[in-house]
Amino acid sequence: MGIIDLTAYGERFTADPHPFLAELREQGPVHKVRDAGGGEFWLIVGHEEARAALADPRLSKDMRKLGWITDDNTLIGRHMLIADPPEHTRLRKLVSREFTPRRVEALAPRVQEITDGLMDAMLKRPDGRADLVESLAYPLPITVICELLGVPDMEREEFRRWSNEVVAPTGEEAAGRAFGELASFLKSLIEDKHRSPGDDLMSALIRATDEDDDRLTPDELVGMAFLLLVAGHETTVNLISNGVRALLTHPGQLAALRADMSLLDGAVEEMLRYDGPLKSSTNRCTTEPVEIAGTVVPALEPVLISLAAAHRDPNRYEEPDTFDIRRDARGHLGFGHGIHYCIGAPLARLEGRIALRSLLERCPELALDARPAALEWLPGMLIRGTRTLPVRFA
Ligand code: HEM
Repeated sequence: MGIIDLTAYGERFTADPHPFLAELREQGPVHKVRDAGGGEFWLIVGHEEARAALADPRLSKDMRKLGWITDDNTLIGRHMLIADPPEHTRLRKLVSREFTPRRVEALAPRVQEITDGLMDAMLKRPDGRADLVESLAYPLPITVICELLGVPDMEREEFRRWSNEVVAPTGEEAAGRAFGELASFLKSLIEDKHRSPGDDLMSALIRATDEDDDRLTPDELVGMAFLLLVAGHETTVNLISNGVRALLTHPGQLAALRADMSLLDGAVEEMLRYDGPLKSSTNRCTTEPVEIAGTVVPALEPVLISLAAAHRDPNRYEEPDTFDIRRDARGHLGFGHGIHYCIGAPLARLEGRIALRSLLERCPELALDARPAALEWLPGMLIRGTRTLPVRFA
């Protein structure tokens, strides 16, 4: 099987990967590809195969198996999204009770309060224009996750730059620097929490470490803080901004939602399907030869699962390229599937629903303030989103 060079698609692949992914999907559900960084990996593009692969124990999350990371060079500690059972089970159990639907529902009043404050500030702008990413989509999830973890006021812009670079690298050197900066930020955060613990999740995790050496190693503490802080906001930013962009470019759907806000929960699921925050899963590697729809992926090869392609698979969704907030999009893979299913899904849904409802209720004139073609897209295979989303609200 030949290697498909994704760079041949050029910038257009970043701005709109769907036509190219559709071409691949028509040729079969799994392909060997090369990306802009020159990396070669297997890309799964069919829905059924994607769902199966996400839960396949023969696809490991521990990239030490490929030598991509080593124990001396973990970049950012150990965490559950780069671990297999039993390590994964242990790490996940430590925090999963914090993110149950019931615990998260209790956060709703605070999420609403933060949203209201951000909307007040945005609506005060005299020119009636704003960048929605800067005004709402970024500050909402980062404030919520920082409050949960007990991260005091920090240099938000600097953190955003590191975090963006980690999930959507512009180059190897810049990404390496960002990982380094993030790691030292997290280490000093953990030292501060050791000295003056609070009533927050990081302090609770540190207490668990202090009381029982078997629980979290220093490396795991850094990894957990990294994963929750980065996964806890990067994706939600793009749920809100991609969702708003989809509505503003589909006036019929926007009008339908404004007319009947009971469609909101379904609309958020459709946003996750139609143009979700993650184009693909995080890295996996085969531990043995794995046959996928007649193609054998050899042992010790990297595999990515294209959620964007799976979500537009006509074998799974009728008219998959149509944004339709009334369709039943449940069962999408936007939060993954299997043991690594997103721990933050209830929180992301809560934030997405509150942000969208508040925005639509308080901005009856909301419109895009840029040509969609002029928006700058985040690079890389992982994240789907634009750096800014200029809007007019008056
Ligand atoms: C719309 C927002 C979000 C989306 C689309 C999303 C998506 C995902 C996906 C697809 C995975 C699985 C990745 C894979 O299997 O390769 C995942 C895992 C994870 N997510 Fe999210 N996520 C979102 C929000 C959050 C939030 C708010 C948190 C913070 C609490 C969070 C924390 C995590 C963690 C800790 C994992 C790893 C779970 C494990 O390995 O067992 N996510 N997320």
